[in-house]
Amino acid sequence: MDYRNLGRTGCAVSTLTLGTMTFGKETDEHAAHEQLDAFFEAGGNLVDTADVYTTGVSEEVVGHWLAQRPADVRDRAVVATKGRFPMGDDVNDLGLSRRHLQRALDASLRRLGVDCVDLYQVHSWDPVTPLEETLATLDDMVRAGKVRYVGLSNYTGWQVQKTMALAERHGWHAPVTLQPQYNLLVRELEWEIVPSCLDAGLGLLPWSPLGGGWLTGKYTRDQRPTGATRLGENPERGVEAYDRRSAQQRTWDVVDAVREVADGRGASMAQVALAWLADRPAVTSVILGARTSEQLADNLGAAGLYLDADETARLDAASDPGAADYPYGGPGIAQRGRTVDRSQ
Ligand SMILES: NC(=O)c1ccc[n+]([C@@H]2O[C@H](COP(=O)([O-])OP(=O)(O)OC[C@H]3O[C@@H](n4cnc5c(N)ncnc54)[C@H](OP(=O)(O)O)[C@@H]3O)[C@@H](O)[C@H]2O)c1
Repeated sequence: MDYRNLGRTGCAVSTLTLGTMTFGKETDEHAAHEQLDAFFEAGGNLVDTADVYTTGVSEEVVGHWLAQRPADVRDRAVVATKGRFPMGDDVNDLGLSRRHLQRALDASLRRLGVDCVDLYQVHSWDPVTPLEETLATLDDMVRAGKVRYVGLSNYTGWQVQKTMALAERHGWHAPVTLQPQYNLLVRELEWEIVPSCLDAGLGLLPWSPLGGGWLTGKYTRDQRPTGATRLGENPERGVEAYDRRSAQQRTWDVVDAVREVADGRGASMAQVALAWLADRPAVTSVILGARTSEQLADNLGAAGLYLDADETARLDAASDPGAADYPYGGPGIAQRGRTVDRSQ
């Protein structure tokens, strides 16, 4: 396992993170603890959860594991969680207000059985709470010793930039990471969000690195999914999601390219897709999601896989999000001026 700094901090985290969104749902507590054991045995140390995952159960499952393992294992764990989405029916049971965030963090700490989380992430932008209120609250949490580092999730480029500028202006603890959806099928964030993070020094923690399973090759052109898969288990929304993605030629171009590179390497498709992502600019650690221990074992195999330039180029080309249009690329204004002849 390789390690990188968590954004611009001095905290070292594994380049693969264990995601826990399936815990308490597709993955019961016993199987979840097996996944945590296997992940730590493979050298992993960053675990990502959120209060909303199975309405608090995911955090509890992680908390039980932390309580049951010896101190040397527990002490290695770098724990990340999130707050923002509804945890109740009241009008104040959601959002990035001081009132909700403080209560959400205290509830997360209780479920995890810890006094402090390493990374507390705001799960997405809140359009109705003043950003000053959110950032001052997060800063207070760090000063109170309940949070070591602050992170963002699902922010756009301008939201990242505004947040970082405001934190700097007030001397507040600034976020160190952004957790976005990012994989070979979803690369549009490279137009604006990745450059914003590179500029601000934020590390990326990509979620859905396998596109929810698509990049493992488990979904095929000729058959709508059924059975125990994320799409197959959900007959209405799953079929709709399958039809939408299946209708795009780019989906199958990417899946074919991943399969080709995997076959050439004797690796699994999941490993190739994860290795590609771990190597992208600004990426700190890729968040794995697995229903079973077998899937996790497969995905952890990405830790020793380094794609060469030809393999990367093949995957880049098949998954190119086509940013040739104004203002992100092509013969646009950004390119003009670099070659301007100032003598005229
Ligand atoms: N910040 C956010 O808004 C946000 C949103 C979503 C997720 N996350 C985080 O990111 C983590 C990962 O997201 P994700 O679960 O969407 O990731 P993903 O890697 O795109 O999808 C994981 C799913 O793909 C299937 N799968 C995984 N490995 C496989 C393998 N080797 N072979 C065959 N199938 C495999 C499993 O589903 P099936 O077995 O059901 O097919 C698994 O649940 C989450 O646990 C969570 O921590 C964050």
